[in-house]
Amino acid sequence: MNRRLLQSSFMRVAAMVGCTVLFMSQLATAGSILEGQRMHPVQGKEGMVVTSHFLATQSAQKVLKNGGNAIDAAVTAAFSLAVTQPRSGNIGGGGFMLISSEKKNEVVAIDYREKAPGKATVDMFLDKEGNADSQVSRYSHLAAGVPGTVAGLAMALEQYGTISLKDAMAPAIKLAEEGFIVTPRFSDGLKKKEKMLKKWDSSLKIFYKADGTYYEPGELFIQKDLAATLKRISENGIKEFYEGKTAELLVAEMARHGGLISMEDMKNYSPGFRTPVHGNYRGYDIYSMSPPSSGGTHVVQILNILEGYPISKYGHNSAKTIHLMAEAMKRAYADRSHYLGDEDFVKVPLKGLTSKKYAEVLRKEIDPEKATPSATIAQNNPLPYESNETTHFSIVDKFGNAVSNTYTINFSYGSGIVVEGAGFLLNNEMDDFSAKPGVPNAYGLLGGDANKVEPNKRMLSSMSPTIVKKDGKNFLVTGSPGGSRIITTTLQVIMNVIDHNLNILSAVAASRIHHQWLPDEIRVEEGLSPDTIATLQEMSHEIKVKSAMGAIQSIMIKDGKMFGAADPRRSTALAAGL
Ligand code: DON
Repeated sequence: MNRRLLQSSFMRVAAMVGCTVLFMSQLATAGSILEGQRMHPVQGKEGMVVTSHFLATQSAQKVLKNGGNAIDAAVTAAFSLAVTQPRSGNIGGGGFMLISSEKKNEVVAIDYREKAPGKATVDMFLDKEGNADSQVSRYSHLAAGVPGTVAGLAMALEQYGTISLKDAMAPAIKLAEEGFIVTPRFSDGLKKKEKMLKKWDSSLKIFYKADGTYYEPGELFIQKDLAATLKRISENGIKEFYEGKTAELLVAEMARHGGLISMEDMKNYSPGFRTPVHGNYRGYDIYSMSPPSSGGTHVVQILNILEGYPISKYGHNSAKTIHLMAEAMKRAYADRSHYLGDEDFVKVPLKGLTSKKYAEVLRKEIDPEKATPSATIAQNNPLPYESNETTHFSIVDKFGNAVSNTYTINFSYGSGIVVEGAGFLLNNEMDDFSAKPGVPNAYGLLGGDANKVEPNKRMLSSMSPTIVKKDGKNFLVTGSPGGSRIITTTLQVIMNVIDHNLNILSAVAASRIHHQWLPDEIRVEEGLSPDTIATLQEMSHEIKVKSAMGAIQSIMIKDGKMFGAADPRRSTALAAGL
């Protein structure tokens, strides 16, 4: 055998051994996935991590084991998800992080939502006839907002963390560089979105093999460009992403394809602290995301309306309970479409929308026996009550900190566009603006002036990272993906725990319902009984059974113990305690 042949056979064997070792270690984690999905929650005393990918959970769990706090673990989880779950984990998107420090007795929110580029215009998504062109707002370079994730995560670490950015990013870099074993979910996702991703050479070469075929379950997936980008950030800090080579690659990508994001937009991007929305539901303090997300506002508004009814007596998913929930949801989503937007640009009547008095007014409109047609519901007037493929993870530590983080590139795989040479996907968050009043976005959500496109504005979101406290102590950490369904998914886990006394895994797994005012229908997951559906129909509700909603990764803390529940709707999700 000649030397070259010998060398290449040796390389092949070495690669096989390496792959097998990696496979075995990742398989061991898969064992704990099954463990995590029994019908009782995973328990921990010193910490708990729940994310939608077991490798991210594992990376974050190690950070806690090594003495890091929940914020350190959160930053590690987020960067690891950016590698292992490119459909939603990201550095090319944005999101919101709620941090609760029990010791400091405060809950703060970091807003790292994307911003419209400086050159964005109100009519940028309208065609010549003045019609909204969703192809442009969803699948072109114009669809991307200025990404906030890297700056947001760094801000969290700097203000509340204990480890360096380099240490927090190390597990993600290793996963990108050495690769990870493809799961069926990973493989299926890329097969499903083939058309959208293969449209762009930069995406094709990252997510498909050189001959255009698929990565199959059990194979190794390596991301060299992404590894190099992450390394540059970890070595040079966030300046690299916003002013360095990564920014240059992103801006060059824009310039080649008619996008708007400029070096100036990148340099000017800044995340910020926001005061979370605060409400109280049956003695529990609810903290959730404030504008530019609509999530917290409407979670609290709907809970306020429902507080007036003996929900626990009516029972979980009974026709009566679902009727009242749907009626409350309708009214909240009607208000959403009118009032909600980025508070840096528009005045949102937040205090009114979340006040108990306003909820009382809305409750009076609800007929306990009959559905109100959405066509007769418009936004109400909260002003008199003024005294003024997303992914979520939840983490708690032994120091009393909790992190509830939801971040996104909007659709599964965002715009489908990878930044050439940088290896990450761009968001298509600009579609969350209202392209034209009365024209729904991808989630059927309507918007008006408050959410019109404006330069440097943040587009309205539904993301609802939430922390619930009881008697000043962290009690529930929760949140979900799911577009317009995020708000109602989060709401139901809160209700399932507080009203229906379910353990956290049952609360997460239970069938969910959703109403968003328009379309005028209650969307339900499979699992509701036919007689419940029939009763709701008799009350004039339109019922539509559709696919599963959300993926709510949650933690409950009770009697000093931490209970984690990964949503069984995500096959790769994992709760792990320590
Ligand atoms: O910010 C929002 O509300 C949306 N861009 C979230 C998108 C989403 O959850 C998609 N995932 N399922």
